[in-house]
Amino acid sequence: MIDPNSEQRNPLDHPDQWEDELLGRYPTPSSTKSDSEFRDYEAEQRPSVKEFYRLNHRYQTLAFVQQKRREFLSLDRRRMGVWEAMEFLNTLVDDSDPDTELTQIEHLLQTAEAVRHDGRPDWFILTGLIHDLGKILCLDGEPQWAVVGDTFPVGCAYSKKIVYHDFFQANPDWVDSRYNSQFGVYKSETGLDNVLMSWGHDEYLYHVIKDYLPIEAQYMIRYHSFYPAHRERDYEYLFDERDHAMFDWVREFNQYDLYSKAEAPPDVERLKPYYEQLIGRYFPSQIAW
Ligand SMILES: [Fe+2]
Ligand SMILES: [Fe+2]
Repeated sequence: MIDPNSEQRNPLDHPDQWEDELLGRYPTPSSTKSDSEFRDYEAEQRPSVKEFYRLNHRYQTLAFVQQKRREFLSLDRRRMGVWEAMEFLNTLVDDSDPDTELTQIEHLLQTAEAVRHDGRPDWFILTGLIHDLGKILCLDGEPQWAVVGDTFPVGCAYSKKIVYHDFFQANPDWVDSRYNSQFGVYKSETGLDNVLMSWGHDEYLYHVIKDYLPIEAQYMIRYHSFYPAHRERDYEYLFDERDHAMFDWVREFNQYDLYSKAEAPPDVERLKPYYEQLIGRYFPSQIAW
């Protein structure tokens, strides 16, 4: 049995380095990558980013996902309000350049402000505000590769459209005949709700917020890192009709998540009253995390 604890757990300076990496991979809102572009791009990456994906692809097995779901989805770790969770996430200290990097609260507010600027519905603005709160998993000592990174289904073959696909050869599910066919443990068009995704901040936060936000928002949060599907258009053989319709919203959301970088960081104290009342329209004062 391989032991993730015997490896260096956090090769990135900071989990947000993964998001910087995404911007390099998808520089414009409509960009996708051909197979050869993918390989060139992979060859150019920094060793820390490569190492991050190596760990992610080696250890995200079906059994690992099931174990993390048992560990975290009973939501009995703490009770906190949404703004409180934003402040908690902000204690994730950044080793990277303080002059160029946004704090966690700033990234969330910037995303929400871009959505608000476009006159989108209030639940959409709220989704921008909270979408990365699942990263509090890092504060519970979870390794970077089990919090951030592109997500993908486990229990079936790993798509060639997943960045650094070759690293999956070190994953024990790669040679397990129950899990390495196209459909694996699933049926064609089963619907994503029946599919276990690799473990990370998206799936965790979905379970925290699902009783409070509309279905479109649930999809945006749950699948915002599912780049192999929303960007590369793979895995649609697992989609049901609802997934097809809802992924239009996931794609809408991705524009704000990746491309909302503004000139100046948002003014947190000025924006706080507006966002606190927005949070109060959808969430009780405390929720289970
Ligand atoms: Fe995210
Ligand atoms: Fe984000």
